[in-house]
Amino acid sequence: MRRRISMLAGVAALGLTLAACGGGGETPAEDSNAQDASGNVGVFTWWADGSEKAGLDALVKVFGTDYPDVTFDNLAVAGGAGSQAKSVLAAQLKAGNPPDSFQAHAGAELQDYIDADQLEDLSSFYTDNDLTAQFPADLVDRLTVDGKIYSVPSNIHRANVVWANVEVLKKAGIDPEKPAEDLEGWFADMDKIKATGTIPLAVAGSWTQVQLFENILLASLGAEGYNGLWDGSTDWKGAEVTDAIKAYEKALSYTNTDRDSLSDWAPATQLVQDGAAAYNVMGDWAEAKFAQDGDKPGVDYVYFPTPGTEGVFDFLADSFTLPKGAPNPAGAKAWLTTIGSAEGQAAFNKVKGSIPANTTAKTDDFSEYQKSAIADFGQDTIVSSLAHGAAVPVAWLNDLSTAVSKFGGDKDIDTLQSSLGDIGEKFAK
Ligand code: BGC
Repeated sequence: MRRRISMLAGVAALGLTLAACGGGGETPAEDSNAQDASGNVGVFTWWADGSEKAGLDALVKVFGTDYPDVTFDNLAVAGGAGSQAKSVLAAQLKAGNPPDSFQAHAGAELQDYIDADQLEDLSSFYTDNDLTAQFPADLVDRLTVDGKIYSVPSNIHRANVVWANVEVLKKAGIDPEKPAEDLEGWFADMDKIKATGTIPLAVAGSWTQVQLFENILLASLGAEGYNGLWDGSTDWKGAEVTDAIKAYEKALSYTNTDRDSLSDWAPATQLVQDGAAAYNVMGDWAEAKFAQDGDKPGVDYVYFPTPGTEGVFDFLADSFTLPKGAPNPAGAKAWLTTIGSAEGQAAFNKVKGSIPANTTAKTDDFSEYQKSAIADFGQDTIVSSLAHGAAVPVAWLNDLSTAVSKFGGDKDIDTLQSSLGDIGEKFAK
């Protein structure tokens, strides 16, 4: 997780020059203070609509109270998991045109931006706001490189959750309160659902299939084997991965045939809400959608860790940065202050379905699901999500996504496994 970044003097100087040219005035980022903030603060996310936009709106409301003199400029680019946003952002950063703050996943994805020398060090911001002690040590570790911290986490999401329609399960003779314990048992339940004429498993295109694949890898290999995929200690070309790919092929056989034409996660979750499908494997931003749509846990839907992954919390966290050359660094620090605060985190996470990264945030009015996630995060084995930037850098994820997506069409196990092996060899450190 910790790697040395070479701070080339020329690049650092370029960062300062860009900062001086920005609309926020002459003050360089390190001397800018949140209390002096004014003007516009442009924030780049992929929370453009639905329950995700509702979460962002809740946060912006707190920001407006905290900093009435600063105007929030919403630079969101639609597309779940940042599927469109990340390339748009990369182009803006390359062109020397960064926003004031942007969303990035804690872990390997953040490391990409650090390696590219695109982020300001926020260590003194952490000290000034007494933040380190307020976030879980595991998370701070994933945000720290060579003793420096480069972003402020807004939340913790879980990626290994199954959301299920109660009526559909009952109709197939499955007890909604007793989920299968492993993949085999789960596939047996899916056979029962298939026999009733309902789609067993809803999935959408691209990244949602990678997230399903990630869940199957985790269930098949266990936490240790799954972690080993990212550091080279699990052999991508070994028999265990072959078995996992076979299980993934089986899982795909239960999914909606129009999966590639569903543009994002929400339409797949909607199939479960509508009773058109039984299960959807989705991160717990789905909880926000169920809640926003008025669905009742235990009555309309149930949730459980993906069978075979009980006791493991497949983790990801959104975090916010101060890019080098941000036009309004004081405004960005104001935004980061609200993000890190107990009040900001409580308001945002309640609506977003996630749990606060700030452990001092009040959560007594959080949903039943969120309370269970807080308990699980405290006791489970934590692993890093593949599809959501925690486990691997963006370039690795992109190559892997192409291979997994191709497999959805040709179902060629040997080709997928050898591609995954080659990709792993190229990137594993
Ligand atoms: C983000 C979540 C978001 C989800 C779907 C994940 O990568 O971390 O905040 O809700 O993608 O867009």
